[in-house]
Amino acid sequence: MMEDAVETALRNWDGEELVVRFDRPTGAWILVAIHSTRLGPAVGGTRLMTYPSFGDALADALRLAESMTTKFAVVGFPRGGGKAVIAVPAGFDPTRRLALLETYGRLLGALGGLFTTGPDIGTSSEDMDLIDRVAAGRAFSRTPAAGGKGSSAPPTALGVFSAIEAACEVVFGGTSLEGRTVLVQGAGSVGGLLIERLARAGATVLFTDVDAERIAAWRARGFRFVPPEGAISSDCDVLAPCAVGGVLHHGTIPLLHCRIVAGSANNQLVEEADARRLKENGIAWVPDFVASVGGAMAITGMEALGWSEDEAEERVRGIGHVVRRVLRSAAESELTTAEVARRIARERLGGP
Ligand code: PHE
Repeated sequence: MMEDAVETALRNWDGEELVVRFDRPTGAWILVAIHSTRLGPAVGGTRLMTYPSFGDALADALRLAESMTTKFAVVGFPRGGGKAVIAVPAGFDPTRRLALLETYGRLLGALGGLFTTGPDIGTSSEDMDLIDRVAAGRAFSRTPAAGGKGSSAPPTALGVFSAIEAACEVVFGGTSLEGRTVLVQGAGSVGGLLIERLARAGATVLFTDVDAERIAAWRARGFRFVPPEGAISSDCDVLAPCAVGGVLHHGTIPLLHCRIVAGSANNQLVEEADARRLKENGIAWVPDFVASVGGAMAITGMEALGWSEDEAEERVRGIGHVVRRVLRSAAESELTTAEVARRIARERLGGP
């Protein structure tokens, strides 16, 4: 990204604040994007990875921070949206990771509670323990040994499951998954737990993945594997993208043979027009920012708002109400599910 492109990206972003720190010893850029504190202090994951350029890292941070604001607003959770990106150079020396995370922790401490974080791609609950030791109270999803609630994968999977049940109710007239076929794309931490829940609920579960070991493990447990090339066009009732983003676009949407798409992957659409394409193809798309909010909501609720496990579970299951409302009003109007969900979020944020 050229320098004026960085300026354009920031001008076009409607967030509140971007904090930038260059960590000279490692050559890493630390970006903390605080999109909105309107509903409460900003919360969002810390993503640690290598990007092709500084501009890509910046674009990712800005976009992901905004989507956290929408996620929390759409379910009425009293937290704002933010995201941190730690962009490490290619060939990053892992022995420097600890010092880098400590530097990052000091930065969060200096921000004085404006931004609180959880794990995301490239960071773990153990990393949150470390950050919290440097900046107490600034990291969620710490390990149970350190007094945290551990991984956010279980509540995330429960949220996706509740979204699928609600979508089935709207589309097929009943929440029961008995006899429904669901294809889970990505059998990782969230996808794996979702597979188990779906199977327990009586669904026929197909899965696709790119990792040979994972494929073998799920096959050994009796689940049918669909090779990634043909996965998107598989015959199923529900497609659940739980891996990478960008899976729904003008090239793939016409190939879909499902009635519902609901999964935890962030940013499933390539462009906004894809929400319209899905609608025109008769597919009920549960916006990813609705389906995936369970993890961050439950963990933050338990660790910062004093929710009990039961309360957290109830709130996560409540994602189903939002899904029903979104799918029904989209079906009864010209609006896409994304437009309806964004409108709900905007109303809560008090925006235009
Ligand atoms: N990766 C989570 C998200 O983006 C971040 C998170 C996890 C935040 C746990 C809070 C608690 O939604």
